[in-house]
Amino acid sequence: MDKPEKISIYCFSGTGNSAKVAGWMQEVAGERGLPCEVINIGSRTSAPPEKPEHGELLVFTSPIHGFNYPPLMLKFLLRFPRGRNRVVLMNTRAGMLIGKFITPGVTGIAFYLTALILVLKGYRIQALKAVDMPSNWISLHPGLNHPTVVYLHQRNLERVKRFANRIYDGKPFFRCLLEVYDLLLLPVAAGYYFIGRFFLSKTFVASADCNLCGKCLEACPVKAIKLVDNRPYWTLSCESCMHCMSYCPSKAIESCHGSVALFVLGWNLLMVWLLSQIPVVKEWSAEFPFLMWLARYLVFLGLFSVWYYLIHHLMRFRVVERMIVFSSLTHFRFWGRRYRALKKF
Ligand SMILES: Cc1cc2nc3c(=O)[nH]c(=O)nc-3n(C[C@H](O)[C@H](O)[C@H](O)COP(=O)(O)O)c2cc1C
Repeated sequence: MDKPEKISIYCFSGTGNSAKVAGWMQEVAGERGLPCEVINIGSRTSAPPEKPEHGELLVFTSPIHGFNYPPLMLKFLLRFPRGRNRVVLMNTRAGMLIGKFITPGVTGIAFYLTALILVLKGYRIQALKAVDMPSNWISLHPGLNHPTVVYLHQRNLERVKRFANRIYDGKPFFRCLLEVYDLLLLPVAAGYYFIGRFFLSKTFVASADCNLCGKCLEACPVKAIKLVDNRPYWTLSCESCMHCMSYCPSKAIESCHGSVALFVLGWNLLMVWLLSQIPVVKEWSAEFPFLMWLARYLVFLGLFSVWYYLIHHLMRFRVVERMIVFSSLTHFRFWGRRYRALKKF
């Protein structure tokens, strides 16, 4: 394959991992005297992307969310103009460490789906590369410790630079396709895209430590946070990229595990009661399982949003605020280290 004449790296990043990888790719391009631009699609306006020039290599990089690229990235790729250029698809995913072994994250359907979108637009895929950066999903697991974060940066820096040299020499790279079992995750990825992400968007709260600096509202890549009752409120368009939580200068943003657990418990009790009191619900569930599951989910999400709205307003009372904050795992030191990609790499 020909060597590129110019490189454009389109990047979306919540906590800096994908931006870091884009920066490393740009550094190698610079060392080789190749013109290279990194375009942050998180901060772009809705203006359509420009048509790529002849000889321009396109690189896309973004985190994996729910075994797929996040909606922001997918929408961007769908809007991308048609072309015949070569494309490199990259992602950063949840790397962890056991001893000196980096446990890989899971790409799921991200590469298959986006490669298909781009090929249908006329592009040629040159390479696919997943980079196992430190996981940023601290709503789900305790934040990684500093030595682990440093080690993962060091190892990935070497790997990405090797990869970049290979790509800029015009060589292909498709080792990720060996992870073909990822395709089995299609139903889970669809479940996350159509359902899970909306649920997650309603799990963030701002504690009394919030001083209304407005940084989370400004920096949110999908403008999902607004002020309600004079406190940040997360709308359904939140993509849980963790930017707000990780960059809040007052560390005031929490994942409200306790309130979610209470709601889920209440919901399950309600379901048991409904099934025992209204037999027709049971019959319909057996007869139309998918429709009933969908209806149940929509009611669940609706009630959960109402619950979130109530909690949000009740948090103006100190006692409720303290209960919510102290039942949030992210509030505690053993769990809630905030994660940001390291500047020094
Ligand atoms: C809501 C959410 C969902 C995630 N889902 C996955 C996943 O399915 N597979 C995976 O390997 N990593 C997953 N991760 C981890 C991130 O993809 C990973 O930490 C990534 O490097 C973050 O990149 P960023 O700093 O550029 O946002 C998820 C993180 C979040 C916040």
